[in-house]
Amino acid sequence: MAHDEWVDIGAAAEFSRQPVQQVMLGRVRVAVSYRDGRFGAISGVCNHVGGPLGQGRLDGDYVVCPWHYWKFHFQTGKGEPGFEEDAVPAYEVREENARVLLRPIPVSKRTRKLHAPHPLARPVVANSGAIRVLGISTTSMTQGQERYSTSDDLLKSALAHAASSLGCESQLVRLHDLKFRPCEGFYSKSARACTWPCSITQMDPEDQLDRVYEGLVHWADVILVATPIRWGAASSLYFKMVERMNCIQNQETIAGRSLLRNKVAGFIITGGQDNVQAVAGQMLGFFAEIGCQYPQYPYIAHSRGWSAEDMENNTRYVQDSKLLHEGAGALAGRCVEMAGILRAGSLKDEMREEPRARGGRKAQELDTHAQLQGRGADPAPGGE
Ligand code: FES
Repeated sequence: MAHDEWVDIGAAAEFSRQPVQQVMLGRVRVAVSYRDGRFGAISGVCNHVGGPLGQGRLDGDYVVCPWHYWKFHFQTGKGEPGFEEDAVPAYEVREENARVLLRPIPVSKRTRKLHAPHPLARPVVANSGAIRVLGISTTSMTQGQERYSTSDDLLKSALAHAASSLGCESQLVRLHDLKFRPCEGFYSKSARACTWPCSITQMDPEDQLDRVYEGLVHWADVILVATPIRWGAASSLYFKMVERMNCIQNQETIAGRSLLRNKVAGFIITGGQDNVQAVAGQMLGFFAEIGCQYPQYPYIAHSRGWSAEDMENNTRYVQDSKLLHEGAGALAGRCVEMAGILRAGSLKDEMREEPRARGGRKAQELDTHAQLQGRGADPAPGGE
């Protein structure tokens, strides 16, 4: 087939039933659209990070990328008004004898508008000054009507100890002060649709989780996370934050890039009823998976157990307990000491120095799968 020959890609009736469809020309993806009696054909690969335009939808004359909603004119491939320079290749397409014909050589080129990178996308630079301790309080409370929180109070003691006795810089982020959207499941569309910086952060300047990302990735050496126990689990705000950190973990999986290196995490867990070990287990598991290190005894906790319902006494108990506040300071001390050890020895940069063995890590396909598939397709002579 000569490249400039028209190719019959199917029945017009079929294409006019669906506003946007993906057509494969060999290995080339094309998004074929139909609107008000007109056909259009543009590249099926989005300019942003390669989303499948042929699986998108039509918004007026524009194909909307299903990943992060960039728009391209269904016939010219140009970006939406103001972003015309962001264009994907367009193809000639026509209807003849109730068939749709497409010429496989594009009539325009892919062009990209210059987009300033998000500030979070800058390289991560190791801190060589005073150790920095970031506290993240995950308890929920009414804006302007602050109440006493046991986890928040112990976190403040830990940060105060780090700053006043250990010579650290410290910073407290309270999730309940931030307005941020829940994770919207870009990863569920495709691993590559989950981006760093987070797709929501890049799209929505009102979203304030950038402060947590900035603190975690670019600022902190030590991360102290405090949570109340709510129905046997960490707080809902903790999980809302953790779901948005998928983008940090996912960089490991899709790009072999570790955003959190030589960072130490510790946890403060308090609750009226028990379940400390399960909450700690989840937190340890998650922060390990995003690359954090732990000191010896990486969490402190307090709980009065199933039979206690006198929460007024519980809050007073924590407020007054010298031991608990000293324990919070000691946790900060262990984390800071560990951060110092890591800084002195520094973890080997496996990403640059040698290929990393990924067996057993998340989303790593095992060699046994490949072997089994290989056997099915092409059995070895004399094999089973
Ligand atoms: S908008 Fe298309 S890949 Fe992001």
